[in-house]
Amino acid sequence: MSNLVILGAQWGDEGKGKITDFLASQADYIVRYQGGNNAGHTVELENQKYKLHLIPSGIFNKNKSCIIGNGVVVNPEALVKEIKYLNDLNVSVEGLVISDRAHIIFPYHVEIDRLEEEHRGEDRIGTTIKGIGPCYRDKVERSGIRMCDFSNRGFFEKILRKNIKRKNDLIVKYYGSTPLDEDTMVQDYMGYMEEIAPYITDINVIMRKAVKDNANILFEGAQGTLLDIDYGTYPFVTSSHPTTSGIACGAGISPFRLEKALGVVKAYTTRVGRGPFVTELTDETGDWIRERGFEYGTTTGRARRCGWIDMVMLNYSIEINGFTSIALTKLDTLSDLETIRIATAYQLDGELIDYFPASLETLSRCEPIYIDMPGWSLEEVQNAKTYDELPVNAKKYVEKIEELLGVPADIVSVGPKRSETFVRGTFF
Ligand code: GDP
Ligand code: IMO
Ligand code: MG
Repeated sequence: MSNLVILGAQWGDEGKGKITDFLASQADYIVRYQGGNNAGHTVELENQKYKLHLIPSGIFNKNKSCIIGNGVVVNPEALVKEIKYLNDLNVSVEGLVISDRAHIIFPYHVEIDRLEEEHRGEDRIGTTIKGIGPCYRDKVERSGIRMCDFSNRGFFEKILRKNIKRKNDLIVKYYGSTPLDEDTMVQDYMGYMEEIAPYITDINVIMRKAVKDNANILFEGAQGTLLDIDYGTYPFVTSSHPTTSGIACGAGISPFRLEKALGVVKAYTTRVGRGPFVTELTDETGDWIRERGFEYGTTTGRARRCGWIDMVMLNYSIEINGFTSIALTKLDTLSDLETIRIATAYQLDGELIDYFPASLETLSRCEPIYIDMPGWSLEEVQNAKTYDELPVNAKKYVEKIEELLGVPADIVSVGPKRSETFVRGTFF
């Protein structure tokens, strides 16, 4: 058996969908282990661009098992839509399976997410309003509803009605808002669940077989390390563990079986939503990168904040996840800039630090220390058919990052398509 973890090293949108799709041809199983439809993973094949939120990005490779693990929170309405979206584009979802232990997102989670953000006002997190936090909250609080509960339709309806009543109480009495219609929700959700029921199964049985068969397993993270509920810039984080540590409890595999981890690193940094961002560029260079890289959210369409690549944050990310190598994406986006900056340390109260502070107040006082690298032209990047053919300065940038991180860039990506990918290492 061999397995590979692919996950975001920054604040999400690093290009995980592209890299997962690219490597999925070598895998037998592709597994999502956390998050939900807050994720937006783009896969661009030669003639078609796809956006996925819940279904693993391995789905475009034939005869693969694509697993939605127990750690994922699943919105059945969104999943039914995504299945239809793929089928309409002639993509088969035959290999899809959903863990019977996965928790379900209901409309009251989405509504509470919206109300909670409204209530926070100036302190809002900037969530995707997909009900992610409220659903994980129910899971931890032990009032959530799981996929396996649908195996007994009567029981499912009973606990759903009980939860709707409780949540409507909260919506009306605490938030002073309008209650959601119980009967409509029950009817709609019984329908959506009936549609996805054929895909629900015990994924532990599948994972056990995969291990026994020596199969190749690929784990696809959503979000990114700095959005991790423990390791991220709390409270401006998501409610799950996008890190390597999330895999064992989100996908039914022992942590001792994990082998290699590929950190997906954008050649610069972006972030959607609020929270600290030490290397953020609020000037025209930031705007230029946003337009050149088309940095607008796949799920919400929001403009992404842009800034330089940050070695303090990435070294922290490597430490937490144990990345054995990185996939450096969107190198093409930086083309045509005269100078490209790399933050190598932070200055805090007159002293240089190389650790990532937990306190947001401390982080807000950190100033990035940069080294400058000379730029290269887009034309030269577009003409390159191999890594070696890339412009010298682009290769110097990649190699500087490798040196500062102490891990190889096994993949260098210079465009959204599969063909715009240079492979420099082996994975399985
Ligand atoms: P994910 O959430 O990590 O899967 O990333 P997103 O799909 O949200 O955002 C990444 C965007 O960059 C998508 O539109 C990809 O098609 C695109 N992309 C991925 N790799 C590259 C690359 O190397 N160059 C360029 N220009 N675009 C890329
Ligand atoms: P992918 O998988 C970027 C951010 C939101 C917000 C915070 C909490 O495409 O990389 P949530 O709705 O999860 O409670 O929002 O997390 N966020 C993402 N940012 N990419 C994502 O996913 C994200 N999923 C959530 O913007 O700041
Ligand atoms: Mg995304």
